[in-house]
Amino acid sequence: MLLPEAVLINGQTGSISPETGRYTKRLSELRQIFQDRTALETMVSERNDPIIYEVLEYKKEGSDLFFGTTIMEPGTVGEEFFMTRGHFHKRRDMGEIYYTQSGHGVLLLESRDGRSEVVRMDPGVCAFIPPDWAHRSINTGDEKLVFVWACNVEAGHDYGVILERGMRKIVVRRHGHEAIVDNPQFA
Ligand code: F6R
Ligand code: ZN
Repeated sequence: MLLPEAVLINGQTGSISPETGRYTKRLSELRQIFQDRTALETMVSERNDPIIYEVLEYKKEGSDLFFGTTIMEPGTVGEEFFMTRGHFHKRRDMGEIYYTQSGHGVLLLESRDGRSEVVRMDPGVCAFIPPDWAHRSINTGDEKLVFVWACNVEAGHDYGVILERGMRKIVVRRHGHEAIVDNPQFA
């Protein structure tokens, strides 16, 4: 029998206790998602392949749902803000929530038929991600962006479509301001 449990989440650091798993994404693993490949390679070599984000999770064998935190560093590659890979869920009938704890960013969403939506990520905002909407988080602030996510263990990830053709919108810093613009490389 699964037993209830209190999980302590630090909204500033994103730490989870108890934590059952984690992974780190460095810039060199995200070569396909940023537009400015020259700026990317320069950062990889000059800044020692920086960490862009980390994902920590709490998952119990036999449970139907799991949750965790994503901790995103601030920064840009060229003019593009640091972002996650972005994905659809394998299970088209399963959505998710992203509950922002600290920092500021943008949640970029895209429906299967090509509609783009944005939900701002500010502390206290719990974003509802409906089933079959691709989602990517972007840190547009100058501090860490930390959010809690929760979804069904069966949801899974489908990275293929977004990796191959990108998303229709990109989020950039232009003239010192954040801007959501059409992706010139959208295939
Ligand atoms: C799970 C989910 C998040 C992301 C995480 C990293 O369905 O949406 O846990 O997996 O924020 O983003 P990706 O997986 O797009 O690199
Ligand atoms: Zn997801």
